[in-house]
Amino acid sequence: MKVPFVDLYAQYQDIKEDIDSAIEKTIRTSAYIGGSAVKEFEKDFAAWVGIDHVVACGNGTDSIEILLKAYGVTAGDEVLVPAISWISTSEAVGSVGATPVFVDIEEDYFSIDPARIEAAITKKTKAIIPVHLYGHPADMPAIMAIAKKHNLVVIEDCAQSHGARINGKAAGTFGHAASFSFYPGKNLGAYGDAGCMATNDSAIAEQVRMIAQHGQKGKHNHLIEGRNSRLDGLQAAILQAKLPHLNSWTERRIANAARYDEALKGGKAGLPKTRPGSRHVYHLYVIRVADRPSVQALLEQAGIETAIHYPTPLPFLPCYAHLGHKPEDFPVATACRHTILSIPMFAELTEKQINHVASVIKDAK
Ligand SMILES: Cc1ncc(COP(=O)(O)O)c(C=O)c1O
Repeated sequence: MKVPFVDLYAQYQDIKEDIDSAIEKTIRTSAYIGGSAVKEFEKDFAAWVGIDHVVACGNGTDSIEILLKAYGVTAGDEVLVPAISWISTSEAVGSVGATPVFVDIEEDYFSIDPARIEAAITKKTKAIIPVHLYGHPADMPAIMAIAKKHNLVVIEDCAQSHGARINGKAAGTFGHAASFSFYPGKNLGAYGDAGCMATNDSAIAEQVRMIAQHGQKGKHNHLIEGRNSRLDGLQAAILQAKLPHLNSWTERRIANAARYDEALKGGKAGLPKTRPGSRHVYHLYVIRVADRPSVQALLEQAGIETAIHYPTPLPFLPCYAHLGHKPEDFPVATACRHTILSIPMFAELTEKQINHVASVIKDAK
């Protein structure tokens, strides 16, 4: 039995009529840039998150960079980021001329470890970017307390955590602002690149909108040199058509994770944990296995796709070699490096597929 890592076509088949008519309407009205679909999606996604302002942009990487700019983060500043994430989190820091400072992650939850944050703060530190990695929320109450004490800006990287919550409060509403990605494979994914900034701060919302639209405030009134980072009308229409399904897709991911938990119970693989009071939305279901190459090979032979998120912790990527980090600087990220394994996770996964994946993992020596 073949089990793909994700199956975006299965999702499309379930909502084909809505998607096809959204695309047809965009073409019929030629609303390719801006237009009502973008405005409506911004309004509806803000309501879905429970935040005052959503400003759409080209992708999640841009949204982090634009937010950093809006908060005035620039050359000479330092920004704390977790040692494990997709490169966008640290890359955006470098893009505004600042320096990413890596902090090790929590052993159980893979997010920036609040207990290690204060040791990384210097006079140059301006911001923290917690990442709700794999869909599990970072420890935002602890992070916000530290940020308040040291007067730091907090930008939540919600690329993998649409709908994650801590004690009922949505990821993205704890920090000063949040960044979302709608890359196709995300829990809410477009059919190309897409992203947004979200905040309760109306001045920041206005600033990021201006930066993303060539520094314009009103047509041809360029107050600053900004950039071009727009959500196109087709992507907005597709996201708008998908948004009403996001709650049920999230519930199905959570149910699939519970099936995996049950089927893998008692085996040798370490299973994902959820902090009490938190809602994990399982963008990824990441297990830990001692002999990853052999488990991965067995799964591949059985027709099951897997992936590693991510094979190299950020501080050890070639682009950060100049920082001279050693494995012992990040003991938890280093320990995860060779054991983490992402197994298939998406809403349409069937019980049969889950049981098949679990039985191969359980049979591994
Ligand atoms: C944790 C994290 N941050 C940022 C991004 C950047 O998003 P995008 O690919 O839309 O630029 C991604 C997704 O790729 C991500 O997984």
